[in-house]
Amino acid sequence: MVTNTDISTDIESALGGDSLLVVSNRQPYKHSYDDDGTITVDRPAGGLTAGIDPVMQKTDGTWVAWGDGDADEEVVDEDDCVRVPPESEAYTLKRVWLTEEEVEDYYYGYSNQVLWPVCHGGMWKTKFANEFWTTYRDVNETFADAVVEQYDDDSLVWFQDYHFGLAPRMVREELPEAFLMHFWHIPWPSWDSVRSLPNHEEVLDGLLGNDLLGFHTDSYCENFLNCVDEAFETAFVDRDGKKVRYDGHTTYVESFPLSVDFDDIASKSAEADDEWWSEFRDSYAIGDGVQVAVGIDRLDYTKGIPERLDALARLWEEHPEWRGELTFFQKGSPSRSRISDYKELQEEVEEAVARINRRFGTDDWQPVIYTEEMLSETDLYGLCRHSDVALVSPLRDGMNLVAKEYVAAQHDEDGVLILSNQAGAHEEFGDDAVTINPRDIDEFVEQLQYALTMEDEERGERMRRLRDTVEEYDLFAWLEDSLTTAHDVKRQRAAEASENSETR
Ligand code: F6P
Repeated sequence: MVTNTDISTDIESALGGDSLLVVSNRQPYKHSYDDDGTITVDRPAGGLTAGIDPVMQKTDGTWVAWGDGDADEEVVDEDDCVRVPPESEAYTLKRVWLTEEEVEDYYYGYSNQVLWPVCHGGMWKTKFANEFWTTYRDVNETFADAVVEQYDDDSLVWFQDYHFGLAPRMVREELPEAFLMHFWHIPWPSWDSVRSLPNHEEVLDGLLGNDLLGFHTDSYCENFLNCVDEAFETAFVDRDGKKVRYDGHTTYVESFPLSVDFDDIASKSAEADDEWWSEFRDSYAIGDGVQVAVGIDRLDYTKGIPERLDALARLWEEHPEWRGELTFFQKGSPSRSRISDYKELQEEVEEAVARINRRFGTDDWQPVIYTEEMLSETDLYGLCRHSDVALVSPLRDGMNLVAKEYVAAQHDEDGVLILSNQAGAHEEFGDDAVTINPRDIDEFVEQLQYALTMEDEERGERMRRLRDTVEEYDLFAWLEDSLTTAHDVKRQRAAEASENSETR
């Protein structure tokens, strides 16, 4: 049996003696005051943070992140550092403090009202203000300073996401020899979109401070290389070699499709057996024999939730045989609600659900169950295991890990994944999922009908292939791939440096 320890040993060896210096906006551990004044710790529940955490624990790295917990300041030392996890201190978390205004303009502003919409192809949603940009730059400077302060000769600096478009260049200026890598978790769009981005040249220049820049898919890499080619006359873009030579420095650009912890999800969903499912259905009054379709999303306008509800309403309208026979369970997680587009989306979803339930619901059947309640991992993965169909229909999504979670949780291999052709995951899953264009409602309804009536044999074949794909390239394979590539690039860089010094 492969254990987490074996996995982190492989990753440790991919690190080759280097020590990780991870930089992310969200922190892996957050300290907060309870009602009675005691301090509690929120831990990484899943996803990337939970994946990197065991590696950090094993290799004693440093993690730089925004301290957003109300008790965070209480527990740090004079350098704003705290050893984590609290019960077996294994690595350093360096907290960066942000003022309310900084959070407003850097996080809610340039990150989420400029970069986020532009990268998802929604330029018309961009709300640009000068202070968004200047604060984004200042906060990147603050994080860059923290990196420089924490840096050691064996550090491998790894920036996460679009909050840090400028910090790599800032660190490069201070530490020319440092090895810097970055993973961009959202799509990288075409040049036509990028040039609409205020200050796009600075962002491209900032990212070219990295030695290795990772995206989820090859097409995002190609888009990035095209953008550099268009933006900078002095950049030499080598598409075959996937690298850019710019300002005396080489940046390698590579795809690493982020994934999930397949084994962990599969074992948690296995715990949610038939008895659990029957209790879960009872608690939401889902009748016996009623098929269940599921949607699990952060409440973001990129996720296509209103379009999905429109398709379902059309299904119940055009195929009345599904009334009383299909319930759609939507879990929504409120997100970035201080931004009006997000708040409005939340209201729009609630209204659409109420409208559909009023129109089609009966005394003993509720067409759509919508909840914003926190669900435990067992509930979430159990729901994924037992739902007949998953609706993953984003209008645009860098990867969409819910699609991969659904697949990993499909212990009985009898569910169908309906997947948008606009999700990064579609590049890996292709024809094994049932593909939709989330804006083409006729096709969506047809594919829903196809998925709901699919024969068991086809369900099993498709799901087995999907599960093989996720099991083979899981979160740990992603980590190992990223770190092994970093080492290859590092070697390449050293070889080039020694060639240059010999020819001098
Ligand atoms: O998809 C990009 C991402 O930054 C994820 O890494 C993260 O889980 C999600 O968006 C939500 O981010 P936040 O709540 O920090 O804005």
